[in-house]
Amino acid sequence: MESIWRKTCTIEERETLNREIQTEVAVIGAGMAGLLTAYQLKKASVHAVVLEAKRIGNGQTKNTTAKITSQHGLFCDAFIRKKGQKTAGQYVQANQKAIEEYEQIIQENNIECDFERTSSYVYSKNEKKLRNEAKAAAKLGIAASYVRHIEIPVPCAGAVRFEGQAQFHPLKFMKAIAEQLEIYENTPVRKVEGNLIQTAQGIVKADKIVFATHYPFVNFPGLYFTRMHQERSYVLALEDAGVINGMYIGDGEESYSFRRYGKYLLFGGQGHRTGENTGGKRYEMLRQKAKQFFPDAKEVAHWSAQDCITSDQVPFVGKYAKTRPGWFVATGFQKWGMTSSMVASKILCDMICGVENPYAKTFSSRRFSTEEVPQILKDGAKAVNGLSKRFFQVPEKAREELETGHGGIVKTKTGKAGVYKMEGERDCKVQSACCHLGCQVAWNPDEKTWECPCHGSRFDCHGNLLDGPAQEGIQYE
Ligand code: FES
Repeated sequence: MESIWRKTCTIEERETLNREIQTEVAVIGAGMAGLLTAYQLKKASVHAVVLEAKRIGNGQTKNTTAKITSQHGLFCDAFIRKKGQKTAGQYVQANQKAIEEYEQIIQENNIECDFERTSSYVYSKNEKKLRNEAKAAAKLGIAASYVRHIEIPVPCAGAVRFEGQAQFHPLKFMKAIAEQLEIYENTPVRKVEGNLIQTAQGIVKADKIVFATHYPFVNFPGLYFTRMHQERSYVLALEDAGVINGMYIGDGEESYSFRRYGKYLLFGGQGHRTGENTGGKRYEMLRQKAKQFFPDAKEVAHWSAQDCITSDQVPFVGKYAKTRPGWFVATGFQKWGMTSSMVASKILCDMICGVENPYAKTFSSRRFSTEEVPQILKDGAKAVNGLSKRFFQVPEKAREELETGHGGIVKTKTGKAGVYKMEGERDCKVQSACCHLGCQVAWNPDEKTWECPCHGSRFDCHGNLLDGPAQEGIQYE
């Protein structure tokens, strides 16, 4: 299940940190946000090192659809009503500037990463909503318009078009940027205390520390786990699907994503909250849709992505917590990781260098507004539910009832366990409680993984950690 980006780009392995080093800034996480932050700092003559638990781009960056856009769904109209025109305008401008910044970096460094300018579209069946959105976006300074006809075969009443957006190959871009940076791979961070970072085999003393780990793994202070949840979505790369020039996404239920990469069409959808996928068959449902839309197309790759969703749909960028003045964070990029990474890198670099950034307040990680409350309560209720399942829910199945090739929470002599019944082999057993904050994990039959419904940690069928905020696996002793 390698993404098309992984299949078409290899990045040379870097050394593992096995000594003590000192630096002005340590960036934890070599995804797009981490590398761009280190890159901006280097340009500002600040010494930065990047620490990566696995490999460069190995987290969510390799799974993105790599759209670089300020069009984040049908959001302008709603944003203006919720946050006011000034804040909405700043959000849009920061993202629009991020597109220019990518282009500039690519030109300055002669990076061959298939970058191309194109329009982005959000389609919907609701024409009134589309027209209102186009007007609101234009009010915020975007070259936006309502268009009746689009080039993809989905039933809709048209779309809102943003001109001058972009798409690229994220790993080719990262590979070029990484060559200029001091990066340590296979260097998982075990502990962060003050300005001291303890890795598996080394120590980093840093004046400032940036957490660019998709989901921050230090729970206290910060409490980011109370303000975000994670969602998964699935992507197919199709050949012979015809030529599509724009980048598309649907509004609301049954939303699909489309973009071209060379001769391939990347077709995505079937999103769900991580840990809530009991029915499975997500890839199958996506394939059926692909067949309906593009009957001649052939699948060449499939993969899935995971996104952090904040309670007010704006990323958290800035100081980690009041009590940790030297710590910074970038997280909660929704489904717009490429653009948000660039926005975050500019804000963080300015903050670290003591330069005022016009967008810092809009994205501030320490902001709090009453509009966040309903989503925080909803996420809190999900967490309580996940936790109570661990203590009170009777296992649904006995081990014998599990079908081969499937997993579930079952009764054991000592309590409960997650069991994956493998074909012709011994069962694969894991702890049923997530090691982050203890919620009961759930089986994802499409990916053959264990997922935590509370904050979205993921583990492979053996219990090895795939995605945080958990920092360890859930292997059965
Ligand atoms: Fe938080 Fe599992 S991810 S309890």
